[in-house]
Amino acid sequence: MPIRIPRGWELPESAATPEHLVLGRRKALGLGGLIAAGAALPWQGAAAQEAAPMAAMRNPAYRPERALTPEKDATGYNNYYEFGSSKNVTAAAARLPQRPWTLKLEGMVDKPQELGLDDLLKRVSLEERVLRHRCVEAWAMTVPWTGFPMAELLKLAGPQSGAKFVEFHTVADRAVMPGLRQSWYPWPYVEGCTLAEAANELCFMAAGLYGKPVPAQNGGPIRVLFPWKYGFKSGKAITTIRFTDKRPVSFWEQLQPTEYGFWANVNPEVPHPRWSQAHERLLGSNERVPTKLFNGYGEFVAGLYAGLEKERLYL
Ligand code: MTE
Repeated sequence: MPIRIPRGWELPESAATPEHLVLGRRKALGLGGLIAAGAALPWQGAAAQEAAPMAAMRNPAYRPERALTPEKDATGYNNYYEFGSSKNVTAAAARLPQRPWTLKLEGMVDKPQELGLDDLLKRVSLEERVLRHRCVEAWAMTVPWTGFPMAELLKLAGPQSGAKFVEFHTVADRAVMPGLRQSWYPWPYVEGCTLAEAANELCFMAAGLYGKPVPAQNGGPIRVLFPWKYGFKSGKAITTIRFTDKRPVSFWEQLQPTEYGFWANVNPEVPHPRWSQAHERLLGSNERVPTKLFNGYGEFVAGLYAGLEKERLYL
């Protein structure tokens, strides 16, 4: 990934937001842990999005074991190449319409369909998960997402027995995404995983962040999350989920296969060809902490890779 290593002074020094403040804010919104799928309000501009609730009961199974990243850091330091290679894409991404939004389930499934996002959000059971996110560039954040397990979409789609892989296609809108003019990138941004990875309980579809709709710069209105993999696997603004018998070659893998692979599981002992993966820098505090195998989620996902030791699982 052609990345620019940020200097220390580019990030504000601030302490992590204490959890009670985040919860207190949600109480103030009158949500107090209740599902508020009314969150899925029509897109009415950034101000309306700021006020819209998108909260759900927190699932305690995914203990963050770290302080939450301050919201302003998690939503103000982003990778979203469709809007350029700067980390500050908030203003540019605000031009991406968030509604109406449909999600297509297609390919090798019994029930191909197109789902309106608001209808979908009413059909699934929403939960909040505080998850660690580890970018391949060696920065990390810990943030509360609202959404539902990808397994729920598998149930809706009914993958056929031949389907072995899942592709996540993300929006490519030339009218609002200046990065698409950079023709050396293999647009659109497509990511993929095995069907077993998609069915794993950790694979999550997020429509909310910090109790509000996911801001456009973080992948709104809906993105996928693979918290045990490097962040580039977690595609933003998903439009189509395609089930296939062929292993997808994803965006970064097409661009630089020697540096970015299909599996991309986090492993501190396997360096990126150009830098170490042993530590990560926490957004907000700038603290440097050791990286963990599978980003600390081995208890949920290690079993997925039994017998695959010959694969480049950590690139
Ligand atoms: N999805 C799209 N469509 N385009 C991107 O450039 N960047 C990826 C991933 N998903 C990216 C994307 C990378 S490299 C990372 S680290 C995460 O999004 C960053 O997510 P964040 O900005 O919410 O922290």
